[in-house]
Amino acid sequence: MPRAKFIAGNWKMFTAAQAGRDLAAAVAKGFAGNTHARVAVCPPFPYLSLIAGVLQGSPIGLGAQNCYPAIEGAYTGEVSPVMLKDVGCRYVIVGHSERRHGLGESDDFINRKAKAAFAAGLDVILCIGETLDERKAEKTESILDRQLAGGLQGIGADVVDRLTLAYEPVWAIGTGADAAPQQAQDAHAFIRKKCAALLGPDAAARLTIQYGGSVKPDNAADILTQPDVDGALVGGASLKADSFLAIVAAARA
Ligand code: PGA
Repeated sequence: MPRAKFIAGNWKMFTAAQAGRDLAAAVAKGFAGNTHARVAVCPPFPYLSLIAGVLQGSPIGLGAQNCYPAIEGAYTGEVSPVMLKDVGCRYVIVGHSERRHGLGESDDFINRKAKAAFAAGLDVILCIGETLDERKAEKTESILDRQLAGGLQGIGADVVDRLTLAYEPVWAIGTGADAAPQQAQDAHAFIRKKCAALLGPDAAARLTIQYGGSVKPDNAADILTQPDVDGALVGGASLKADSFLAIVAAARA
């Protein structure tokens, strides 16, 4: 059975209330009646409840961009996965490169977030990917290897249907320099092989692996038709309903 495609929009720290409401409403309207892909949007924390209301009754899932690995506690400024579930999230992104590299998050911290999110009943989008220097030094596979082994530590095949990996080469994020479709395919095939060793071959065959990094309407079909590419995590192009929906339309199972 082919894996269904999964397209998620990562709004990052963009869109205030009115813009987010309009964007979510336009995405929900444009997606109605179109069932070939699973779709989610990930707004900033303060607007999750608002967007949950806008998306009510639509097949668009709601996701958060981060969480803290605890149910509750004295963690000023942090947000628990239980709270995300409570406000209507189905998904949470963990390990985005803007947090790994910009905020110094380690594989261990990201792994604890993923485990806490699963325990809270959320589906997890775990981001991995190499920097430009790492790719130039031919370290892509060893970096992915480390991020997968660390990020999936203690996570078993039982949650594979709630796990999405997002391969996001750091050099392609927000730069316009998307990976060539074959580069994406090669990395995805490597990730799936590694996951076969970590989670078992059946789980690896079922696992959804998104590509992320400058996905746009004009390159989406070429990337999404690669055999091991099961969807996209979209940043910039998810901030306009037209471009996001065009990427969704390019996804075929
Ligand atoms: P981009 O971002 O599509 O703007 O490159 C992708 C991401 O960071 O998830």
